[in-house]
Order: sequence, then structure tokens, then C-alpha cells
Amino acid sequence: MAEKAKVAIFISGRGSNMAALLYASLLSDSAFEVVLVAANDPEAEGLALAEAEGVSTFALSHKGMVRSDHDAAMEKAARDAGADYIVLAGYMRILTDEFATRWEGRMLNIHPSLLPKYPGLDTHQRAIDAGDSHGGVSVHLVTPELDAGEVLGQVKVAIRQGETADSLAERVRFAEHQLYPRVVSEYVGRENDPEFLLSKVRELALALPQCHERESHGSPGWRAGSEKSGKYFAYFNDQHHGSEHVAVLVKTGSMDELLDLVEAQPQAYFKPAYYGASGWIGVILNRPGLDWNHVADWLERSWRSVAPKSATKLMDAADQF
Ligand code: GRF
Repeated sequence: MAEKAKVAIFISGRGSNMAALLYASLLSDSAFEVVLVAANDPEAEGLALAEAEGVSTFALSHKGMVRSDHDAAMEKAARDAGADYIVLAGYMRILTDEFATRWEGRMLNIHPSLLPKYPGLDTHQRAIDAGDSHGGVSVHLVTPELDAGEVLGQVKVAIRQGETADSLAERVRFAEHQLYPRVVSEYVGRENDPEFLLSKVRELALALPQCHERESHGSPGWRAGSEKSGKYFAYFNDQHHGSEHVAVLVKTGSMDELLDLVEAQPQAYFKPAYYGASGWIGVILNRPGLDWNHVADWLERSWRSVAPKSATKLMDAADQF
């Protein structure tokens, strides 16, 4: 089985979601492991639980600290623990935009409402006051705007006659504990899922002008130019020829460049069987923290090397704006 994604959990209080995540991570099919539990309150109850379970902890009170300094210390703790993802579980701090941006796509949060309804506080009371039939919980990606990132999963929880915010919160909590571990596991597991990786590469490749997909030796490939005379600029490789990598093969400028890249960054590149001999490099996709912009840059560069002049000229013109 592929290596598990490393997750740091940030808490501020009880940490019941953290506990749900932690115990779920110990199940054999979990795609993540918890490498750190960090809190902005050294008294946070959840820290003691994490310690008892042998998980590393970090605590630093934010009191008297500038927000960006506190964020930086929390972030450093996560990085030092080797975290690929930060999972916020009742972390009652607003993060700086820079922090949220640096971890975009790699930071998740749980929020006790059916987003986009009721971002912010007092969610249960607001749902009751509005006469909603359901409250609930959402797991979403964190972006600089509060509780506004892409929703990855939700569970609805019925609001009963005479419901109070506390009684609703208590039931929503059960739903939270079911939802959060599952969404985290699915989300971080995508980076090893060949189907997901293929769909991402396909989307990026087909966004290039005059591009079409055609299978080559059983693998998806993408060509630039007309259907008739187009040339390949990328191939998708799912653990081909004994390689453990899921990768996209693209053209380098020279054999020297290929060998230099493979030597300097073996976690990111490899020289594929057969194709390597003619200057194609394997860009490894099934690894934590993969930067899709980087993959897009490689695809564009490879596309440029074979695309008809008419198409590259249009692209150059578009790039000027
Ligand atoms: C949960 O209700 C969660 O939705 C919200 O904060 C609360 C955290 O509770 N973001 P706990 O510390 O996980 O018990």
C-alpha cells in the first residue's frame, strides 16, 4: 500500500473531532496518519488525549502575539512534523491570508452548518431561528475567505420540535465524527488514485489549443495539431513496466536536462523505460504536495515543442495579456 499522507491537526478545545480523526487513522484502510496535534491553547483538552495515544503535540498560546507570528510558529511545527496537510478541527483562530494561500488545497476545516448557509459563529441557533428543517455539518477546503472554500462533504441533521442550539450541536457532533475522517481519507487518498490523476492530466492537456486525446500502446496520450497529422506531447503512465509511479511523460529539451532533473529530484522525476531514451521524462504524480501548476507548465512546454506554429503564435499572443 502507498505511504499514508501525513496530517497535522489544529485544535483549540475539546478535540472530539481530532479524536475521531486519530482513531480513524489507525484503521488499516485509512489514507492518512496523524503526525501532530497542535493547539493555540496549552490547556486544550484534546492535547492530553493525543499525548496519551503517543501522538506528538505542540502548544503555543496566541495571547500577546501578533497573528502572523503565531501562524508562523504553528506552521513551522506542522512542517517540522512532516505534515503534507493541515486539518483544522475546532481551531478557533482566523488565519492570515498568506498562511491560507500557502496551504491552499492542503488545508481542510469542519464547520457546523450546511455551507454556504451560516458561515461564522452561532450556526445552530441561526438555523433554528430561521425555521430550517435541518442543520448539519460541512467539510471544506480552507481559502482566505472565512468558511468559503470548496465543500468536500456534508451531512444533514434534522431539527426537531423544541430543539435548542445545545441539543442540536450534540447531534451534529455525531455526524461530524462520521464525516470528517471519511472526507479527509478520501481527499488525501486522491493523490494515489490513478483515475483521479488521469482526470486532472486530461483536463490540463485538453485545455491546450489544438489538442486531442489518442491512445498509444494502451495508455492515454495527447497530441497537438490536427487529428490526422498531430504529434504526441504527453502520455499517461500508470505504473508501467514495473515502475511504481503514476506519471505523465513529457518531452525535455535534451538528455542532459533529463538526467540532471532525475538526479537532482528523484522524488519528482524519473527516466521512463523506452521513452526515456528519446528524451521523454516521467513527471511523478502520485506524491504528496504535488503542484498541479508545475504539471501544467510541463504540459505546455511539451505541447509547444510539437504544436504547429499557428497554434503557438496564438498562445504567445494570449500570453501577452
Ligand atoms: C465542532 O463543532 C466543529 O464543527 C467546529 O468546532 C467544534 C469543535 O469541536 N469547527 P471539537 O473540539 O472537535 O470537539
